[in-house]
Amino acid sequence: MQEALTYDDILLVPKYSEILPGDADTSGRFSRRISLRLPIVSSPMDTVTEHQMAIAMALQGGLGIIHKNLSIEEQAEEVRLVKRFENGFVDNPMTVSPENSVDEAHRIHEEKGYKKIPVVDKNNKLVGLVTELDYLWPQDKDVKIAKIMIPAKRLTIVLNNVSLETANEVIRTKRLSVLCVVDKNGLLKSIVTRRDLEKNQSFPNANKDAKKHLLAGAAVGVGVDLLPRAFALSEAGADVIVIDTAHGHSKGVINAVKACKKEKRLRHIDIVAGNVATKTAVEDLIAAGADGVKIGIGPGSICTTRVVAGIGVPQASAIIEATKGKAKNKNVALIADGGIKYSGDITKALALGADCVMLGGLLAGAEESPGETEFVNGRMYKTYRGMGSLGAMNRGSKDRYGQASITDSGKFVPEGIEGRTIYRGPVEKILYQLIGGLRSGMGYLGARNIAELQKKAAFVKITAAGFTESHPHDITITKEAPNYSKN
Ligand code: XMP
Repeated sequence: MQEALTYDDILLVPKYSEILPGDADTSGRFSRRISLRLPIVSSPMDTVTEHQMAIAMALQGGLGIIHKNLSIEEQAEEVRLVKRFENGFVDNPMTVSPENSVDEAHRIHEEKGYKKIPVVDKNNKLVGLVTELDYLWPQDKDVKIAKIMIPAKRLTIVLNNVSLETANEVIRTKRLSVLCVVDKNGLLKSIVTRRDLEKNQSFPNANKDAKKHLLAGAAVGVGVDLLPRAFALSEAGADVIVIDTAHGHSKGVINAVKACKKEKRLRHIDIVAGNVATKTAVEDLIAAGADGVKIGIGPGSICTTRVVAGIGVPQASAIIEATKGKAKNKNVALIADGGIKYSGDITKALALGADCVMLGGLLAGAEESPGETEFVNGRMYKTYRGMGSLGAMNRGSKDRYGQASITDSGKFVPEGIEGRTIYRGPVEKILYQLIGGLRSGMGYLGARNIAELQKKAAFVKITAAGFTESHPHDITITKEAPNYSKN
């Protein structure tokens, strides 16, 4: 029997270097035609990637893949929201209802820091704005928002065909801190804030298409809606479609890749397929026409495939096996999907031969993930669940696990769990640390770019004692580091 290893079993040996972390070029690839300035992609999971996450990922130079636990129209709209995004407009801002009490505005202020909140009726029509100057806390706790808000007729409002430049000019000349953007029926579409204007955030690494729109990916399954979904996503502007299944080395997935590649309407976009863990699987998917192949059977933090089905390959070995499938010769990208716990695992995955990594758990705690926020013992968490968990399968992802025909949810055999992960703040902060770790690793190896990292990589296999030595030991951690925690 062959031995198989994972990230925790191996370490990279340092080499003579003339490269400082800041000099390293971290560009990677997601597929034949999709390059990444930052080799990190957010996973198509319903607690990880909808438009907010995809926008945040693309702004930083990565990519987000919108999950498919949505109707075709809903998923296409998520893609459109990414493609239409203009830095500066905040789509779907947090709002309160005139019927809410001050309590609600105060809660949003405390949790999110927003001091000025649009007030909308049940149809999302803008009816006013509530600011922290309009109430006293806690004296006005139970007062209705309707009583204290500034009514819409007294607000400066712009229509949603306004350019960001004009919106910023309105904010400047009218001395506003928040400008509400509505459609011709008065429905609130977005807001522009003075804070963003002041931050004047430019994103030099943003991942954009030829028309300067952010890149967006979206997932499909192999069921009957494969082509209708793929067409709708492509029409919405998706740059890449991911055939997202638990067992990519199967007739259904190979045929799905072929079917997509055959379609004229999909020729302009790349097709990525997975997940697999062997050389033959990579070869077969490339032969079917895949432009990228996702590697990973069971390494994910929420996966139970290995214990439920007894199937899987530890992730470091799976990547090594996959590289034998000659993806590089065919210009096909290999994506290391799942099992990344620390930034050092990203360095290892890329050094082993992956062109980028896909993350679920490390991004599920981000502000931009769609997971729900929970407070436990005074700490903030976000929900995170496997797409093979009962909850996610009930919402639609059962086809990912070959259980599309099961209608009685009591008969599902889940391959994932539902849980929560620590709230980690904005994606930008998380990626800063992850890329910082990768850059540091590249500096230790003297690697100017990912190709050099792969060429120079020499690994050692470590023992359980080596693993213990690698983590903080014989100490009580008293201050949390932004890039290390035990869970
Ligand atoms: P991480 O470790 O980043 O893994 O949280 C995310 C990846 O895990 C896969 N995934 C699953 N695998 N059961 C599985 O066996 C599941 O329920 C499940 N949900 C997601 C997927 O590849 C994802 O990108």
